[in-house]
Amino acid sequence: MQDPLNHALWLPARQAAFTVAPAPYTAPRGREVVVRTRAVALNLFDRHLQTIGSLACPWLNYPMVVGHDLAGDVVEVGEDVTRFQPGDRVLGLAGGVDKGRNRAAEGAFQHYVVLLEHMVTPLPAAMSYNEASVLPLGVSTAACALFQDGFLGLAPPRVQRQPRSETVIVWGGSTSVGANAIQLAVAAGYDVLTTCSPGNFEYVRTLGARQAFDYRSATVVADLVSALKHSRCAGAVAIGPGAALACLDVVVAAGGARTVAVVTPPATFDGIPVGRGRLRKLLPILVKNATGLLKLMWRARRRGVATPFVWGTALIHNEVGPLIFRQYLPEALARGAFKPSPPCQVAGHGLEAIPAAMAMHAAGVSAAKLVVTL
Ligand SMILES: NC(=O)c1ccc[n+]([C@@H]2O[C@H](COP(=O)([O-])OP(=O)(O)OC[C@H]3O[C@@H](n4cnc5c(N)ncnc54)[C@H](OP(=O)(O)O)[C@@H]3O)[C@@H](O)[C@H]2O)c1
Repeated sequence: MQDPLNHALWLPARQAAFTVAPAPYTAPRGREVVVRTRAVALNLFDRHLQTIGSLACPWLNYPMVVGHDLAGDVVEVGEDVTRFQPGDRVLGLAGGVDKGRNRAAEGAFQHYVVLLEHMVTPLPAAMSYNEASVLPLGVSTAACALFQDGFLGLAPPRVQRQPRSETVIVWGGSTSVGANAIQLAVAAGYDVLTTCSPGNFEYVRTLGARQAFDYRSATVVADLVSALKHSRCAGAVAIGPGAALACLDVVVAAGGARTVAVVTPPATFDGIPVGRGRLRKLLPILVKNATGLLKLMWRARRRGVATPFVWGTALIHNEVGPLIFRQYLPEALARGAFKPSPPCQVAGHGLEAIPAAMAMHAAGVSAAKLVVTL
């Protein structure tokens, strides 16, 4: 049989313009599956790979296909795959950019994507591709922060949750990573306190957070510490600019587990052009990040707090990936115990629509995930 025709949104070289062009169809090996993508979701890191890919991921092979989040139909499975067959509707984390994968065939922004079987989850019949596509990198990053050894190391999530009298702080609960972190921590039996804008308080409560606080409030750290009075703190997940230092203060004052899983670097790499003026924009941000990290390390060390930095695709290589994508999500999604969050907002159709959707993403989103249908 002839291989299907594939097209991809290519990143041809460092800082080059994205272009849509034919791509080879790559057949699955061993424990891989090939999925025909029907919806992809956008992440900040996907667009940053164009501007700072050579710094953030110096290993990248070009031309590269980026993108992490997808939902679609299985079209072919490797010889060791028993969990899926052609025709199955699935979501999955595309790991092409990860150092251990580094393969254009595994980037999400193309019609036929190679995925690792243990990073794929079947979709319930009632769940659309658009809804499902928001999940993979958000849930993966949250799971890395909450469940990996050396991070918060929490008990695993269960569909039948077993409550425990410990509390997790999720700073930035209305972000994509935060919405997933709240739900996973609650499913693991923990109480969750979170921060977001007041307009999203109700939203984060629907995800299971006990209480939400405004991260812009001058008293937010004291408020969180006070809300932690009757429960042991199991650590914090720091999402958003400024979150890590604030979480450090909370875990020290709360006196429980002294771990802050850091998701966001001190300074954003947004707004760096790909051509002229790049260095002028980039240098101050690099300096800000270096000084921000030194300050965090210094304060954390003095106060005996671990501040590991989260790499959202690290779970591909350890037991947390299968824990989430094989064991927990299939049943949790089927029973409606875990909701793909934040809600999807369709930003266009076709690979050509992705760069414009990235520009929309750069303009800012609040409690929404931009999705492009394919
Ligand atoms: N380390 C990794 O591997 C990894 C992976 C994925 C993402 N990330 C990082 O995680 C962060 C969130 O990414 P995402 O895709 O989940 O975000 P997102 O959904 O695009 O985030 C949008 C939200 O950010 C919130 N926000 C803005 N400033 C904030 C602050 N200072 N503190 C807390 N929340 C704030 C806003 O909340 P309100 O509207 O409620 O104000 C808004 O809803 C980004 O910094 C991203 O770079 C890291």
